[in-house]
Amino acid sequence: MKEKIENIKSQAMAEIETISDLKLADEFRVKYLGKKGELTSVLRGMGALSPEERPIIGALANKVREQIEESLQNKIEALSAKQQDEKLAAEEIDVTIHGKKPQVGRLHPLSAVLDRIKDIFIGMGFTIAEGPEVELDYYNFEALNIPKNHPARDSQDTFYINENVVLRSQTSPVQVRVMENTKPPIRIIAPGRVYRSDAVDATHSPLFHQIEGLVVDKGITMGDLKGTLEVFVRALYGEEAKVRFRPHHFPFTEPSAEVDVSCFVCNGEGCSVCKGEGWIEILGAGMVHPRVLKNCGIDPEVYSGFAFGLGLERVAMRHYDIDDLRLFFDNDMRFLKQF
Ligand code: DAH
Repeated sequence: MKEKIENIKSQAMAEIETISDLKLADEFRVKYLGKKGELTSVLRGMGALSPEERPIIGALANKVREQIEESLQNKIEALSAKQQDEKLAAEEIDVTIHGKKPQVGRLHPLSAVLDRIKDIFIGMGFTIAEGPEVELDYYNFEALNIPKNHPARDSQDTFYINENVVLRSQTSPVQVRVMENTKPPIRIIAPGRVYRSDAVDATHSPLFHQIEGLVVDKGITMGDLKGTLEVFVRALYGEEAKVRFRPHHFPFTEPSAEVDVSCFVCNGEGCSVCKGEGWIEILGAGMVHPRVLKNCGIDPEVYSGFAFGLGLERVAMRHYDIDDLRLFFDNDMRFLKQF
């Protein structure tokens, strides 16, 4: 029996040398030291020994067990250290490699100009209103006093979802939605996307952006409209900028005007930007038509208001001297990076 134990020892010690990873170390432990391991099964046979032999063999078996355990432990530590070294080597960072420059995003030029415009109106006490882009015919046309036979209602100009639903062709329907739900005084701007069935070219896109303005209160006059737009235009284009009102027609305002700003390139002298006019058209405006007020449940005998609508792309194109509207929507980084 002594011999058997010695054999197990030398076999185990030789085998330990060949262990090359922690999984094998575990298998080794089971094989030699486990409950069904070689050493244990030898010890099970101790009953057959004489009482004199038993303590001697017992002591030997324990000693061998300790030796195997110790050797195994050393092996495990060595393997762990090696594994750690290999891991560190594999994860080594080469600090001399040059880094990847992160792409830093920025505001789209349309967003930047819109933020600027919002700031100006918020500074005058306006709040921001919103309305749906898929809009009822009633809000987009009917309530705004745009009659059934009006050319804007032609499917050539407006995208129809069905007979009663359109992609809004202007932000003006937000006026109606706000007036229906708010008691005057009202002072809002409503920026957003609008859609028209236009072919794409340098100045047309089926999707573009407008900013609607609406003020309703007791005693609002055309003077308030002029003053507000003057403040706006000066804030946007500089103190020198002037506004000019030209009579026009919009179904939902009476009187109506198209509003020009003095050319900020030539200051009114006439140049290529203003096509020699000295003025550049920037928006449509007017006094809210009494019928529109009435449609929204506001008494035109008590209240009056003004409204205006401007195209964001146009303002941004002039602001950045961009000559093709398509550039805003192409998302070409070479373009966007310039702002
Ligand atoms: N909705 C008009 C358009 O798309 C622009 C406009 C003109 C809006 C006059 C107004 C306004 O609020 O008073 O052409």
